[in-house]
Amino acid sequence: MDTLASPHATLDGVDLHALADRLGTPLYVYSASAIRERIASLQSALHGTDHLICFAVKANPNRGVLALMHEHGVGADIVSAGELWRARKAGIPAGRIVFSGVGKTEAELADALKIGVLRFNVESHDELLALQRVAQALGAKARAAVRINPDVDALTHAKISTGRAENKFGVSIDEARHWFAGRDALSHVQLDGLHVHIGSQILQLDPFRQALQRVAAFWRELAAQGHAIRSIDVGGGLGVCYRQGHDHPIDAAAYVALVREALAGFAGRLLFEPGRYLVGEAGVLLTRVIRLKQGDERTFLVLDAAMNDLARPSLYDAWHDIAPVAGDARPMTSYDIVGPVCETGDTFARARALPACAPGDLLMIRTTGAYGASMASTYNSRPLAAEVMVDKGRYAVVRQRQSFEDMVAGEQPAKHWETA
Ligand code: LLP
Repeated sequence: MDTLASPHATLDGVDLHALADRLGTPLYVYSASAIRERIASLQSALHGTDHLICFAVKANPNRGVLALMHEHGVGADIVSAGELWRARKAGIPAGRIVFSGVGKTEAELADALKIGVLRFNVESHDELLALQRVAQALGAKARAAVRINPDVDALTHAKISTGRAENKFGVSIDEARHWFAGRDALSHVQLDGLHVHIGSQILQLDPFRQALQRVAAFWRELAAQGHAIRSIDVGGGLGVCYRQGHDHPIDAAAYVALVREALAGFAGRLLFEPGRYLVGEAGVLLTRVIRLKQGDERTFLVLDAAMNDLARPSLYDAWHDIAPVAGDARPMTSYDIVGPVCETGDTFARARALPACAPGDLLMIRTTGAYGASMASTYNSRPLAAEVMVDKGRYAVVRQRQSFEDMVAGEQPAKHWETA
């Protein structure tokens, strides 16, 4: 069967062949226009609602991406001091930053309090007490939300599900009830928010509905007891399309309608923490074919990108569409698409049909704007790939390709021995 190769030789008006020739591969390319469109679609769905969108920095912490978020009034959902630092560097005001995560250290809590972040999403009683201690020591008042674990199946990959009782995230509604009952003892914590995040890459509305209904029932119960709830943070989790014709993402308007319906009557502020939805489909990873290798049983297509650049396939068996960057019509061939790293798990796809490839061909691995570069490592001493932003026919490098010197920065031979 003959087929036309992918017609997508450009992204956001920039020629991808020219970009790869100039900047080398592997290369992450992010479309600023595509990111803006996603921000706009969520913002327009939320029009008229008191809300704040806080981009989950972990999805793509690149400073160029964060600057774009900030330019459009989007805040940040952070989970570490490093993410806080990046968000602030990008100019995102502290008043638009929420701090999530099960392992915030007292040093991180103190840093974030001094900066004056909008809210701490508190995930355990121990953390609540730590926050009270740290705030008291600083003479500050911490605004906090309790992260509810609603015990809902997000119907996604087990490794990215977070809302089951067996998961480490959040606390049960029953435990949260006790927190509110003891709220008066918290002299330096203003506990007046609820938070829920049940998982990532969610493609069905039902898990969101179930989780939000539980949170809504709890909010009503608290309100009836006279506990003012000023904000409800509904987390992130909106899925994107990794496999054309197979994944059918939820429409932002339908999602927002569901949130509104579940939380009908809530007059406070709604917080959203989308990561993947805003940046996932905006990115591609450009990579070249190094060689073809005919094994006894399979034909391998060896790329210059590997699991260190994009971990999702090896970590979650995640599917990413892979396509040639334009080209002639060629017969379809089945390949195991692999990287050069010395692990069998360094496999992007097995038995994947692609137009026949030759060494030097440029391919793109799609939907890699989220959890791509952000999860990269230098395993096998492969320097971090370059990242570039494209925007209506122009491009700007937002991360230089790492040099060998950069890669070993901070390392040294053990010369100066000391005793601890
Ligand atoms: N809020 C919290 C508290 C989170 O833990 C996360 C993601 C988000 C928001 C953003 O979720 P999103 O809208 O991006 O689904 N590395 C995995 C995904 C891990 C997500 C972790 N938490 C992957 O590549 O699929």
